[in-house]
Amino acid sequence: MPQQVRGVVAHKKSDPVSVETVVVPDPGPGEVVVKVQACGVCHTDLHYREGGINDDFPFLLGHEAAGIVESVGEGVTDVAPDDFVILNWRAVCGNCRACRRGEPWYCFSTHNAARKMTLTSGQELSPALGIGAFVEKTLVHAGQCTKVDPAAKPEVAGLLGCGVMAGIGAAINTGQVGRGDSIAVIGCGGVGNAAIAGARLAGASTIIAVDVDDRKLAWATDFGATHTINSREQDAVEGIQALTDGNGANVVVDAVGRPETFTQAFYARDLAGTVVLVGVPTPDMRVELPLLDVFGRGGATKSSWYGDCLPSRDFPMLIDLHLQGRLPLEKFVSETIGLDDVEAAFHKMHKGEVLRSVVVF
Ligand SMILES: NC(=O)c1ccc[n+]([C@@H]2O[C@H](COP(=O)([O-])OP(=O)(O)OC[C@H]3O[C@@H](n4cnc5c(N)ncnc54)[C@H](O)[C@@H]3O)[C@@H](O)[C@H]2O)c1
Ligand SMILES: [Zn+2]
Ligand SMILES: [Zn+2]
Repeated sequence: MPQQVRGVVAHKKSDPVSVETVVVPDPGPGEVVVKVQACGVCHTDLHYREGGINDDFPFLLGHEAAGIVESVGEGVTDVAPDDFVILNWRAVCGNCRACRRGEPWYCFSTHNAARKMTLTSGQELSPALGIGAFVEKTLVHAGQCTKVDPAAKPEVAGLLGCGVMAGIGAAINTGQVGRGDSIAVIGCGGVGNAAIAGARLAGASTIIAVDVDDRKLAWATDFGATHTINSREQDAVEGIQALTDGNGANVVVDAVGRPETFTQAFYARDLAGTVVLVGVPTPDMRVELPLLDVFGRGGATKSSWYGDCLPSRDFPMLIDLHLQGRLPLEKFVSETIGLDDVEAAFHKMHKGEVLRSVVVF
């Protein structure tokens, strides 16, 4: 029997979101209904609301979530009712050219649920990132559910489902930062601070946080930054070079995604170093660089999609490290809120007052 639950819907570009009745069908083959326990408010939800991702309104927002499996459809064997899971937007297909090359973290054909959640009018909802989790129950593909240790708190665990995983993975999977390396992270919101926490976990010895907001830099220090630079007051490139014997950092992560921050990252790394772009630019943005510098500085400029994570490998491991006290994921939770408070949370995010607001059910 389809169930009626409450969920946060964006009906029209730039209109405030509203809480609506959402109809959740029974799971079809390969599908799962999850009782959502917590879901973080991510910048991408706001991008959807602003029409910045696509025009497929109405959207069911929310995608950084953890919960309990309620029911499973035909053929589902990896998860069962009562399992504690983190939802992911990389349910790998196993068949695309990336998967066949043994690089499933790039999977080009990820799975989502085939059945649709709707409004009571019957109008189909577009779930954010194929998830849609600001809702009491959601329908996803079984591959979007990753089992982790249920000792973790849902409001903390859910954050690994998007921004925190993207940041940690940008540093350790894409940037391959390791013991004794130097790293600089430009932009210390949820994603940038996760890159800092990841770099610390991986043993980086110099971790430089760059932001234009001193509140963010204070948080960065708490996550393990060894040095901070306010790039409104000091040139970021000169500052990073000065802290690395004049050379630049081995890895520089751009967690903002603007032409000026990418250019800073490009010049603030050491020769043969790595630039990682994890912040998401908009279509109008351009960078211009002397091609001789691209050649002469060597190394790599890489993008990090979802931290190049493989949920089945990375989520349980990071939850275990968290439970052992080695990864302070709880510090990303600035506040817990109700389903009716998502619009207010967007405003706080915009003003830079929070790392993450998390809806709890
Ligand atoms: N690649 C992925 O898979 C992935 C996943 C999730 C989020 N993201 C993207 O990562 C980016 C960061 O997300 P977030 O949730 O941390 O956002 P956020 O708004 O919380 O953080 C952005 C930070 O950048 C700082 N900043 C802004 N302009 C700056 C500048 N010129 N120089 C230095 N710092 C500056 C802000 O003060 C803020 O602290 C966004 O673009 C988001 O869309 C990417
Ligand atoms: Zn694939
Ligand atoms: Zn997100």
